[in-house]
Order: sequence, then C-alpha cells, then structure tokens
Amino acid sequence: MDFEKIYEDLKNNLSKKRYQHTLGVERVGMELAAKWGVKPEEMRVAAVLHDCAKGMSIAEQMEFCGKNGIPLTREDLQSPGVIHARVGAFLAYWKYGVRDKEILDAILIHPTGKENMTRFQKILFIADYIDPNRELPTTHDLTGLAFRDMERAVLEIVVEKNQYLIEKRMVLHPDSFKLYNAQILYIEQRN
Ligand SMILES: [Fe+2]
Ligand SMILES: [Fe+2]
Repeated sequence: MDFEKIYEDLKNNLSKKRYQHTLGVERVGMELAAKWGVKPEEMRVAAVLHDCAKGMSIAEQMEFCGKNGIPLTREDLQSPGVIHARVGAFLAYWKYGVRDKEILDAILIHPTGKENMTRFQKILFIADYIDPNRELPTTHDLTGLAFRDMERAVLEIVVEKNQYLIEKRMVLHPDSFKLYNAQILYIEQRN
C-alpha cells in the first residue's frame, strides 16, 4: 500500500480538520492494534481510508451510491451519517485497491458498529471516536478505558453516540442499537 499517495489524495479531497482526524485515528488505531493483538498494518489501512468519502456531501454520497449500485437500506437513509462509510468501503476497493475483507468490512460499519463485530472492527470503531484530534463531548477517560477493557470501551462509545442522537431527537440506526445490546449481554455474562 502506497501510503504517501493516499495521504496526498486525502489531503486533496478532505477538509483540513477531517484529514487531521484521519491521522489521529491512524495513530490511536495502530496503538490499539498493538495492544489487542490485531495486525497493525491492516489497521493502518482501515484507519487511513475510513473517512475517505467524507469530502462528498450527503447528496453526492447518495448519488454516488445510486450510480454505482451500492445498496442502502431504509435505515441507512434515515441515518445519512452512515452513508460515507458505504461509499468509503467501495472506494477502498475500487480506487485504493484494498482486497482484504476485514479492512473493507471495518470501514463499511465504522459509524454505527453492529452485532457480532470482530476485534478488528471494534478497534476501528473505538479509534474513530477517541481520536486525540477530535474534541469529544465525553467526561470520562475513554482512551484509558480502550487500553484496559476494549469491550467496555465499545459499550461506552455506543452509549455516548446514541445519547447524542437522542438529545438531538435524531433517529437511531438499528445496527447501533444491536451493538449496544450485544455489549451489555457480553459484559453481563463475562462478569
Ligand atoms: Fe466516519
Ligand atoms: Fe472518522
């Protein structure tokens, strides 16, 4: 993977803030990968490309999906913040030549998570949220938690994300809801 070329491309396509976020996710994603025994090079690719479609407006993302036959569910359309991930996975494959299904799947579901996530997917999900360049609404130390207890970190993040949406009276995506239930049940059984 030619990272220099990808950085150049992302710099041209993303806002400065989004590009900084990408680098933050890359850094923390690789640190978490090392900590939790997930392949760091693959995580690097997933992190660098996870928001590669964010330079497009939602309307452009939807148009892109229509033109390229990218399936969007009714729920996706009700939570348009997830669409950049569907486009991003498509671009990772067709534009950047990623063939590793683990990487593509992690990009595809990174905004909401889902039921039965792999460790790899969970790490991208966490890194996206705890990116040190992002100003978080959170009051607790999610970064510390992510290095101590990955499962709990996923739970706290999905709670915060959904709390935010509830406060704004926005629709919750069912995948996010399913992830919440899965984490609750998993942690309950584990304890
Ligand atoms: Fe994203
Ligand atoms: Fe992101």
